[in-house]
Amino acid sequence: MIQLAAKNINVILISRDAGLLMELARDISNEFHVRTVTIQADFSSDDQSLYDMLESRLQGFDIVYLINNVGTSHDTLDRFHVNTPDKLVARMINVNMMSMARMTRMLLPGMVVRRRGVIINVSSAFGRNPAPYLAMYGATKSFADYFSRALQKEFGKHHIAVQSLTPYIVSTNMTKNAPPTTLLPSAETFVRSALNTIGLESRTHGYLPHSILGTILDNAPSLVRFYYMKLFRYQANKLIEKQKLRQSGHK
Ligand SMILES: NC(=O)c1ccc[n+]([C@@H]2O[C@H](COP(=O)([O-])OP(=O)(O)OC[C@H]3O[C@@H](n4cnc5c(N)ncnc54)[C@H](OP(=O)(O)O)[C@@H]3O)[C@@H](O)[C@H]2O)c1
Repeated sequence: MIQLAAKNINVILISRDAGLLMELARDISNEFHVRTVTIQADFSSDDQSLYDMLESRLQGFDIVYLINNVGTSHDTLDRFHVNTPDKLVARMINVNMMSMARMTRMLLPGMVVRRRGVIINVSSAFGRNPAPYLAMYGATKSFADYFSRALQKEFGKHHIAVQSLTPYIVSTNMTKNAPPTTLLPSAETFVRSALNTIGLESRTHGYLPHSILGTILDNAPSLVRFYYMKLFRYQANKLIEKQKLRQSGHK
């Protein structure tokens, strides 16, 4: 959002935490002198009232970019019955899939009438192939990928670009703010790179080192991908344990 505002684009921020939203909106308008609007919404529910509220708040805006970025994942990488309690099944469906379909359904008709629009759906590399130990998350991201690719075919020729963005790992809250490396970029590095692909690539990893890794893994036998996931599981869970220890006051 910050990088879109830097391109002089007014932004509407939708998320759960009203305080954080206001702080971010204030920083964005102070720095880039664009208009900001904030809407507090919790997408873990599929209540019609949530989408009615959003529709009424968004009325009157000519929205050009829709970025379906909200997402939630598992706390650990583990087998399905261990890391996916019932409550998480519903939350992941609502946050990762329902919000994307409903927000697109809400804003696409206006884009069709105005004959311009860009929809970026944040999927994941783990949605491109089955992702052991992240089965539910990967499946929701697979929805995002297929949904976007189908919409791109329907609307591409009507001046509406739909992009499926499928990164590997990026350092964010979701990945416990792991120290950035070339293969695990900071959010800023990743977003800068991904923004350059808008209008050029309808399905992309969004970041060159991820595209190279993706080309290798997509073409490798499924056993190689399975071992990649096992290695990732080992490293991610180590990081999660370390963070838990830090939070409980140990070094
Ligand atoms: N980090 C990665 O390695 C990676 C890789 C591939 C794809 N992705 C995808 O990238 C997207 C952004 O994730 P991130 O890595 O930036 O993680 P993040 O820091 O945890 O951000 C997740 C975003 O989703 C919002 N969100 C989560 N649950 C919500 C809910 N119930 N209602 C409303 N908003 C909610 C969060 O808002 P709050 O501020 O309210 O928490 C936050 O803005 C996600 O779709 C994720 O699946 C991430």
